[in-house]
Amino acid sequence: MKDKATIILDIDNQKQEYNYDILDSTRGPKAVDLRTFYSDTGLFTYDVGFTATAACSSRVTYIDGKKGELRYRGYEIEKLVSKHSYLEVCFLLLNEKLPTKEQLMHFDIELRHRSFLHEGLKNIFGAFPDNAHPMATLSAGVTSLASFYFDHLDIKDDIEYKEMAYRLIAKIPTVAAFAYRHSIGTPLIEPDINLSFTENFLFMMRAYPHNNLKVTADGQEQINPIEIKALDTIFSLHADHEQNASTTVVRSVASTGAHPYVAVSSGINALWGRAHGGANESVIAQLNMIGSVENVEKYIKKAKDPNDEFRLMGFGHRVYKNFDPRARVLKKLQDELKQTLKLDSHLMEIANKIEAIALSDEYFIKRNLYPNIDFYTGIILTALRIPKQMFTAIFVIGRTVGWITQYIEFKKDNQSKIARPRQVYKGK
Ligand code: ACO
Repeated sequence: MKDKATIILDIDNQKQEYNYDILDSTRGPKAVDLRTFYSDTGLFTYDVGFTATAACSSRVTYIDGKKGELRYRGYEIEKLVSKHSYLEVCFLLLNEKLPTKEQLMHFDIELRHRSFLHEGLKNIFGAFPDNAHPMATLSAGVTSLASFYFDHLDIKDDIEYKEMAYRLIAKIPTVAAFAYRHSIGTPLIEPDINLSFTENFLFMMRAYPHNNLKVTADGQEQINPIEIKALDTIFSLHADHEQNASTTVVRSVASTGAHPYVAVSSGINALWGRAHGGANESVIAQLNMIGSVENVEKYIKKAKDPNDEFRLMGFGHRVYKNFDPRARVLKKLQDELKQTLKLDSHLMEIANKIEAIALSDEYFIKRNLYPNIDFYTGIILTALRIPKQMFTAIFVIGRTVGWITQYIEFKKDNQSKIARPRQVYKGK
């Protein structure tokens, strides 16, 4: 027998009973199907911030927030990133299965070929002021892709959709790198088709025109394999995260029939906020502001004060009420990198003290506030010589595949509808 939910309304002393189906899930909570609730009862459900609302059904990513578990297409994140590259993760998200060697080679080549930007698109970078934040330029650059490829996509045409997906995954790192180069006033460096996805991004960020220099002024390799591997892992950890704020924005924009490039660019804007992907930049700014280990207690006190707006950046999560599994991977990576790269030991000391206090403090324990992914990315990205204004852009590069996968899933779902929440009116 199917599970059912009975809701009894008691309004003006009149009781009325309504029955609803309970929808099955393969993992995690089932859901009461309330799609006819308003037409049945004339009432809305009230759920600010969607804390108890499933807005779609999905086969892409699963999170168990209590256990601290994250799976892409059924694969546990820790195992997946320890064995597979970011491009394999992209292939998995898009195709529901890991690629064979040959499929991976084709996918990689397709992306390399699409990493270049239309000459006309390059003109937009010059229109931004010097020092423009790369996220502003990146978002504008991705929106403008819709003017270069304004094809009306037919969801039944897998080839068109594949083309769109490959284009976005391949071009967004180039737009991001160009946005950065423009912001610091250095010449734009074209992609190098001979390099892998992640190495190419570092190359576009760092190379000199004509690419002759293999070492930096202080004798370091211009791009070393440890950095490529670490950044590749960071991209994989960011690749998708279920129905988070930016993905919900992407799906909502998709629901209006807007172009996929515009939907992804809307996701970029949503991600920029410091309660979401912008937190990684804020973590480093906050560690610098705290300034020394001696000041940590003072800021923990501020974070706990209900009358103070100060929050510890990189702590807490809507879904994880346990250690964020991505943070676990990064903590391990951070320890490994300590041996091989120059991690900012001063900032790490401050971060370690915050973490130790927060994990044993009643305020944080009671509210299940654990370090999230952004707490660790800042220090690691600094060690990878990524400037802090690019931290959220790194998140964008990783997350692009997730947004596209969710966009396609939305389009293929015949139950999808335009996103149109209602309100409880309190005005005159
Ligand atoms: N520092 C101090 N207190 C916190 C923090 C924090 N970082 N996060 C939550 N709290 C407290 C709240 O004040 C609240 O306390 P109360 O019950 O006494 O009022 C309680 O914990 C619950 O917090 P909510 O804001 O209701 O939790 P919500 O699920 O809405 O917010 C969020 C989650 C936005 C991530 C929040 O924890 C936060 O602002 N964290 C800091 C920013 C951050 O790191 N964002 C990155 C998230 S991960 C990502 O997007 C990739």
